[in-house]
Amino acid sequence: MKTSKIGAIDIGTSKVCSLIAETDGTGLRVLGIGSVPSHGLQKGQVVNIAEARESVRASIRAAEKTAGFRMESALVTMAGRHVSSGNKRGVISITGNRKQTVEQKDVERLLEITRSENIPPEETVLHQIPRYYRVDGQDGVKDPVGMFGYRLDVETHTITASVTSLENLVKCVIGAGVKIDNVVFEPLASAAAVLTEDEKRDGVLLADIGGGSTNITVYKNDSVYYSSVISVAGNQITRDISLGLGLAPELSEEIKVRYGSLVPLPQTEKPKPLIVEGEEIPYEDLFDIINIRTEELLRLVLLQVNNDTGGELDPAGSLPAGIVITGGTGNLPGLAEMAQQVTHMPCRIGYPPRVSGIADSISGPQYAASFGLLLWKLETPEVFYRQKMNNRVFKNSGVLSRLIRLFGKN
Ligand SMILES: Nc1ncnc2c1ncn2[C@@H]1O[C@H](COP(=O)(O)OP(=O)(O)OP(=O)(O)O)[C@@H](O)[C@H]1O
Ligand SMILES: [Mg+2]
Repeated sequence: MKTSKIGAIDIGTSKVCSLIAETDGTGLRVLGIGSVPSHGLQKGQVVNIAEARESVRASIRAAEKTAGFRMESALVTMAGRHVSSGNKRGVISITGNRKQTVEQKDVERLLEITRSENIPPEETVLHQIPRYYRVDGQDGVKDPVGMFGYRLDVETHTITASVTSLENLVKCVIGAGVKIDNVVFEPLASAAAVLTEDEKRDGVLLADIGGGSTNITVYKNDSVYYSSVISVAGNQITRDISLGLGLAPELSEEIKVRYGSLVPLPQTEKPKPLIVEGEEIPYEDLFDIINIRTEELLRLVLLQVNNDTGGELDPAGSLPAGIVITGGTGNLPGLAEMAQQVTHMPCRIGYPPRVSGIADSISGPQYAASFGLLLWKLETPEVFYRQKMNNRVFKNSGVLSRLIRLFGKN
C-alpha cells in the first residue's frame, strides 16, 4: 500500500515539538520526534524571530535524526491572544440548475462569501468550520449537496489570527527550511488527538493549558461552537512560586514539576519541608501557591466562556461531556479533580492515543497538539492561511533556506 509522510510542528512558549509520521491513509506510524525548549516566544506568540527559528530548527533536526530522513513540509500550531473567533451566518439563492438542487459549487460560493465578511485587514482567516446548513426551512443539515431548495443558509465558526503574528510564525518555519501545509489553532489540534466523537456531539470544553497561554475550544453537536485564549498558564504558576518563595525562575520551574501537586494534603501528618540547594522550603507554602493560582485559572476559563457566550454556554448545563485538559500543566497531579470541583463538570486529562512507532515518548498531555496535527492532516482538507501569505513569505525567505538545506548547513 502507498504510504506518505506527514510533518507536524507544535510551536509553544515552553517547547517546540516536531513529529514525523508515515501514513497509508488510515493508520499512523510516528517515526521521528524532536522536542526542545523554546526561545523567542511569549504567551504563545513569536516575539523574537531569530531565536524562535533556531528552536524550530533544532526541533525539526532532532525529529529528522530519529526518523532518518528530512521533513519537507509540516502542519504548524498557532496559539495566543491575537487569535479571535466567532459564529457567522450566510445565505445564498440556489439558481442556475434545472433540478433546483444544491451543488458542491453552491456550498463553496456560500462559504467564500461568508468567510471574508467583516474580517479587518490586519486579520486573516485560519479556520472556517461549517456548523450546520439550512435548506429552505430545513434546519440542522450537515451536508446539503443534492438537496432540493431555493435558499441555502450556513452557520460557521470562523477563527482568525493577526496577519503579523501569523507571518512571524510562518517565517520561523520557512526559515528553518520546511514548507507549511497548514496552520492550525492549537486547541483544535489537541482536540483532534484526545476528544471522542461522543464528547464532541454531547458538548465538551477543551482547555490546552500550556506554559504561556490557555487555549480553549468548545464542541457542541459535532462541531466547534466557541474558541478563545487566556494569557495565563503554567508560567504564571512558576512565577508565583518564584515570587512567593524567593527562588530563581529555573529552580521554581524545577520544583513545580518535581513536587507540585493539587492533591489535598493529609490533615494528620505535616508534610516534611523540601530541602532545595541546602534551603528548607515549607511544602505547604508551595502547595498553597500552586493551588491558588490554578484554581484562579480554572475560574477564569469559566468566566471567559460565560461572558463571551452571554451565559448561553453555562458549562455545567450545556456541556454534559464536561472538560478535557491538555497541555503540560495537565501533568499537575490532582488537576482533573480540582477542575471538577471548580466547574461542577466531569473532567479528565487528555492523553494522545497510543499508535505504533515511537509514540510512547509522546504520551503526555503536552503532546496532544503535535499529535493532533498529524490527525488533522488526515481528517481536515481545509487550508486558508496560504491564500494570503504563504507565497509572499515563501518568496522572501524560502529560497535562502532551501539553498541552505541544499548545501547541507545544519
Ligand atoms: N509535572 C508537571 N507539573 C506541573 N506543571 C508541569 C508539569 N510538566 C509540565 N508542566 C508545565 O507545563 C507547561 C508547558 O506546557 P506545554 O509544553 O503544553 O507548553 P507549550 O505548548 O510550550 O506552551 P503554550 O502552548 O502555552 O505556548 C510549563 O509551564 C510546565 O511547567
Ligand atoms: Mg502548547
